[in-house]
Amino acid sequence: MSRWLWLTLYPMKTPLVRVFAALTGAAIVLFAGVVSAPGADAKKAIVVGFVQTGAESAWRTANTESMKSEATKRGIELKFADGQSKQENQIRAIRSFVTQGVDAIVLAPIVETGWEGVLREAKRAHIPVVNMDRPIKTADESLYITFIGSDFYKEGEMVADWLAKNAGGRTKIVELQGEPGSAAANERRRAFADAMKKHPEFKVIDSQTGNFRRSDGKQVMEALIKKHGKEIEILYAHNDDMALGAIQAIEEAGLKPGKDILIVTIDAIKEAVQAVVDGKINCTVECNPLFGPKIYGTIEKILNKETVEKKMYNKDELFDATNAAAALPTRQY
Ligand code: AHR
Repeated sequence: MSRWLWLTLYPMKTPLVRVFAALTGAAIVLFAGVVSAPGADAKKAIVVGFVQTGAESAWRTANTESMKSEATKRGIELKFADGQSKQENQIRAIRSFVTQGVDAIVLAPIVETGWEGVLREAKRAHIPVVNMDRPIKTADESLYITFIGSDFYKEGEMVADWLAKNAGGRTKIVELQGEPGSAAANERRRAFADAMKKHPEFKVIDSQTGNFRRSDGKQVMEALIKKHGKEIEILYAHNDDMALGAIQAIEEAGLKPGKDILIVTIDAIKEAVQAVVDGKINCTVECNPLFGPKIYGTIEKILNKETVEKKMYNKDELFDATNAAAALPTRQY
């Protein structure tokens, strides 16, 4: 069956409609073959609906850019929806992509839960969903074809392990959490808390959300410094943007980031790796956002009816004073 006909029939719901559409479609294909051969079955561009969380961080900007530029490179028609940090916007966008009959949907969900209803609509329309970046929580794993992203739990563990080896007797920690309800914040927090149980000398004296945003990171850190003063010895930020915002607050309070307060964080954006080189951040664990090639490669396989793995994790590194300078020139985001 031609790709055009397959795409036409895919979203059809009732068997009767399918039969009718098949006959009509076949007739149109035959007719097209008669009037416009040769080359009538020209390859139609794949249409992908991409539902992004928003633009909360430099990481996110790099991720959006990777998805857009790779789509252009591959001749994929990308329909982009910005969730603007609201799940209801993302749900509406998925619904609209289903109505438009896109070939595949990529979902970077803001929060972990509450996706079943709308993903069932996509499944009923036979539109494959790729869950990107933040995993969703669902009892029905058939609602998405595959997950592609980083292992957030592992990232939190890597930060905690680094601290256990390098904190040099400092023990009092404040934590800046990411977006409430997001897998990235939940897992990074859980992993760190679990690791801390093995190191009872450490104590998280305060933990608040900075929503993965630089401005919030600064504001919350100002409040934390006001509240705890010099008691704060370590800052664990769930992403670099919040850490970089907090650094401004720390400096404005007359303290030295990376020295008076150790700073450990996640993402490894170029600016943070530079801050490691400058001694203002002590370690940043990578969370690579450049998955455009992997996402579209996987979608092409899915549409070719090839089997893909259910979960695919990126391999992430850690940067500290030992390797940041060497890594800096090749950082791509
Ligand atoms: O989901 C990944 C997280 O979302 C990144 O760590 C953060 O910077 C982003 O906004």
